[in-house]
Amino acid sequence: MIMANKPSLAVLISGNGSNLQAIIDAVTSGNLNAHIAVVISDNPSAYGLTRANTAQIKTEVLSFKQYATRQDFDNDIKKTLLAYHVDFIVLAGFMRILGDDVVQMFRGKMINIHPSLLPKFPGLNTHERVLNTTDSEHGVSIHFVTEQLDGGPIIAQARCAIHKTDDAAALKERIHHLEHQLYPLVLTWLCDNKIQLLHNQVQYNGKILPEMGIQVPLEPKNRC
Ligand code: GRF
Repeated sequence: MIMANKPSLAVLISGNGSNLQAIIDAVTSGNLNAHIAVVISDNPSAYGLTRANTAQIKTEVLSFKQYATRQDFDNDIKKTLLAYHVDFIVLAGFMRILGDDVVQMFRGKMINIHPSLLPKFPGLNTHERVLNTTDSEHGVSIHFVTEQLDGGPIIAQARCAIHKTDDAAALKERIHHLEHQLYPLVLTWLCDNKIQLLHNQVQYNGKILPEMGIQVPLEPKNRC
């Protein structure tokens, strides 16, 4: 269904899809003026697909294992995204690295959420890794996707304290709580055309943002 005047989104997932759920809830409540045209998963058993079905959102499963090469997978991702004519592509726990050609095709239109205060801890196991440092805070970053893994220009961050008693599971829960607030918020900016990627820099209402993006103070869960 094409929703007139509303930016349309493709949300790419691989697993639980709690961020997808936060985005669905923001759309349903009217806080996010957008239409989720499709949810794409590389994992046929991702729980996020059930969330999409419940919300009556179209789904596409591009099971990575069924492709002979990574390029074949990337070609199908491009084809699928183009077929849905989406305005923005939202990576929400999508665990595949997209090829440069996909990234270049959607430059400035594709964003990702990452569970660390980038540029710290790109890649996997961010909660475990931050616990092995003396850092006293951790956080979440939302950034435009570029060819550099978790290295694209940052739009926004939210942060929380690390407590002495924290383990990776406690941090994961605290970070998810921030993510579920920050992703819908950043999407409202994007869909209202407040945020743009120009010359590899992020602009908000025409002003270049600092390198670590907008620092958003968010309500912490527990004692942050
Ligand atoms: C989130 O922590 C996100 O930052 C990372 O993958 C996780 C996805 O969680 N990229 P969910 O599937 O949205 O629950």
